[in-house]
Amino acid sequence: MNEQKNLLEVKNLKQHFDVPNGFLKSLKLKAVDDVSFSIKEGETLGLVGESGCGKTTVGRTILQLYKPTAGEVWFDGQLIKSKKSINEFRKQAQMVFQDPYSSLDPRMTVSDIIGEPLDVHKLYSNKKERAEKIKYLMDLVGLSPEHATRYAHEFSGGQRQRIGIARALAVDPKFIICDEPVSALDVSIQAQVINMFEDLQKKLGLTYLFIAHDLLVVKHISTRIAVMYLGKLVEIGPSNDLYHNPIHPYTISLLSAVPVPDPNIARANKRIHLEGDVPSPLHMPSGCPFRTRCPKATEKCAETMPELKEVQPGRFVACHNL
Ligand SMILES: Nc1ncnc2c1ncn2[C@@H]1O[C@H](COP(=O)(O)OP(=O)(O)OP(=O)(O)O)[C@@H](O)[C@H]1O
Ligand code: SF4
Ligand SMILES: [Mg+2]
Repeated sequence: MNEQKNLLEVKNLKQHFDVPNGFLKSLKLKAVDDVSFSIKEGETLGLVGESGCGKTTVGRTILQLYKPTAGEVWFDGQLIKSKKSINEFRKQAQMVFQDPYSSLDPRMTVSDIIGEPLDVHKLYSNKKERAEKIKYLMDLVGLSPEHATRYAHEFSGGQRQRIGIARALAVDPKFIICDEPVSALDVSIQAQVINMFEDLQKKLGLTYLFIAHDLLVVKHISTRIAVMYLGKLVEIGPSNDLYHNPIHPYTISLLSAVPVPDPNIARANKRIHLEGDVPSPLHMPSGCPFRTRCPKATEKCAETMPELKEVQPGRFVACHNL
């Protein structure tokens, strides 16, 4: 059997922020709390969960934009910790951001934006080669060469996201964290951009961590899906299995809220309305973080935190009452 190797391994990652709370006091905000997963070469792992559950912080901590509070990130068999390993990793791993309106400087031309990482990493030997690389990158993302001298503010959201992707691709990365790359775009443009991500993956052999709110988007592009709630992973498994047979009570409620495209096909489980709001990550419930909203909660759920356990091959769920 041709076992693909793990390109990225995240082990017991924690990102705790100190949030000021009164004079000389602070509270710990556990944005990411003991998260572990791996991504195989060429695979896409979808990461979903409600706003504020820690998805972006997972991405930023993997890329060492925040120093992890605890835990390890391994890439291509290397621990990413020393300055040297972080610098090398930053050439191989890139992030594409949610908002193409604020992540690109509107006063820079397309050619400046895409050329900047080429300059920073000295990836050309003369001006001609630099111009050729920019042209190649623009072509990869479907921008025509005459766009090179135009300014970012002249473009629509979808085209700006293409510029952002070309910029991320400039260093020839192996791994890209896509942080809600289509959430800010018109629905009519979203599918085009998703298709482009898929085409680029095939063409360039890329590996993705694909963050989104929208389970339908994630299902389409992901090999596997991980579900996050209040800084923790509650379920992870193959995309189709998880979508058609969710196991964790939170995944079940998330999926029950996804509209089924064909109105003639009713979902087997009815729409579940979650009681209450997501608790503040500054005041986490004891035991299972989902217990304050979970329809299946029992006493044990308030006492101990359920571990992520393999309940079917490749399927991990953190719940006491399965
Ligand atoms: N730099 C920071 N300092 C303090 N708290 C932070 C910081 N960044 C994020 N947080 C907090 O960490 C938690 C997780 O935030 P994060 O942005 O990772 O969530 P998210 O899942 O990406 O949300 P969204 O879907 O809205 O993008 C939130 O409670 C947020 O307020
Ligand atoms: S451990 Fe308890 S509260 Fe948490 S998801 Fe399972 S049943 Fe619900
Ligand atoms: Mg986010």
